[in-house]
Amino acid sequence: MANTRSRLKKPADKSVVAYTVSLPYDKRLCKYDIAGSIAHANMLAKQGIITDQDAESITWGLASIREEMEKGKLSFKDEQEDIHMAIEARLIEKIGEIGGKLHTARSRNDQVALDLRLFIKEVISETVASVKKLQLALIDLADANKDVVIPGYTHLQSAQPVLLAHHLLAYYEMFVRDTSRFWDCHKRTDVMPLGSGALSGVGYKVDREFLARELGFSQVSQNSLDAVSDRDFILEFEAAASICMMHLSRLAEELVIWSSAEFGFIEIDGAFATSSSIMPQKKNPDVAELARGKTGRVYGNLMALLTTMKALPLAYNRDMQEDKQGLFDTVDVLSSTLEVFTGMVKTLKVKPKNVARSVQLGYILATDMADYLVKKGETFRSAHEIVAKLVNYAEEKGKTFEQLKASEFKQFSPLFNKDVSSITIKSSLASRDSTGGTAPGQVAKALSAARKALT
Ligand code: ARG
Repeated sequence: MANTRSRLKKPADKSVVAYTVSLPYDKRLCKYDIAGSIAHANMLAKQGIITDQDAESITWGLASIREEMEKGKLSFKDEQEDIHMAIEARLIEKIGEIGGKLHTARSRNDQVALDLRLFIKEVISETVASVKKLQLALIDLADANKDVVIPGYTHLQSAQPVLLAHHLLAYYEMFVRDTSRFWDCHKRTDVMPLGSGALSGVGYKVDREFLARELGFSQVSQNSLDAVSDRDFILEFEAAASICMMHLSRLAEELVIWSSAEFGFIEIDGAFATSSSIMPQKKNPDVAELARGKTGRVYGNLMALLTTMKALPLAYNRDMQEDKQGLFDTVDVLSSTLEVFTGMVKTLKVKPKNVARSVQLGYILATDMADYLVKKGETFRSAHEIVAKLVNYAEEKGKTFEQLKASEFKQFSPLFNKDVSSITIKSSLASRDSTGGTAPGQVAKALSAARKALT
């Protein structure tokens, strides 16, 4: 077995082994570590650093370890510190001492940087695909409820009517930005660090460009010290994931509010809801609540790594091993949240009657009333004041705008005419025809643009 402790003259204390080991979680990088090692062995042979024969048995050994892994038959001995040592040890077990040649011109420092970059690149592709599925579910829901009008809110106080589709498309836009953030992070993750060695480069004629091509990277890193100590790409991924979770958490909050008895805008499908162990009437939005809760964890992972990195001198420091558990946790939370939200949105039922009732509340057409007076020559400021007084009056009388008589309107401004009755939810929506507004024409355009962008 590979022994790297000769300098230390004695085995590590048991407590140290337990404290420093990362294998239990970094074995998740196994497949990337093997891919990196196969490319490395081929490069060493191509450069005449090891013989073709040695490379052949090394790559054969690595491929068979990969097969064991795929069949779930790969197990590592407990004494292995991390996935890199564990695979090397298994290789030597399989092909003998020749396996010891694999680590020529390489350090675990550039190796782990490579594995993490390969991992995140793949995760980004998967994440973007999952985000797209959720976007499609949102668009389908919007399409299926094209004519549904909801109260638009500011301060969670009913403000102006908007189309439900418009509201859902707002989330579509957030996820467009998330996707672009993930691809942006991909650009800086797509840099091949192998060949940086422990910190200063390697003393062999390696072909780093060959490695980059073999492993699907578009460029190689330009400074060995930076390459082994850079974790920006993980931070960027976790930042993008945090923002994406924040969006999911905001959507979650809306689903929680909308599914309450008081709002009753939607019904979450039974398969995506939970029940109470005591209150038989309950249909709880636990999925949405957990997404809200897990968002805190994802932020925490970002904060933890920022803090870990903040005062590290160049180059590699063991502190950086702490990058992995948070990263893996963030990846798992994000992917499961996207999956469960897609299912929940796909099965969501909108309850148009309840929504329609809410639109009647809260004098939601007050801005349109003010605009009406402005069009008749009033300044917006005084129109605002007039309508505010009108709202107070109507509220005292317990009436809606529609229930007020023409004479009652007249008490507040002579500019009010019979045509005040032409101010309706429909006219309000239609008037918001600025680009990106909630006018049905604008929303239809946005919907089809969104669908086209996704397919
Ligand atoms: N397990 C280590 C990590 O994840 C790999 C690199 C170790 N390098 C070292 N010099 N101990 O960071």
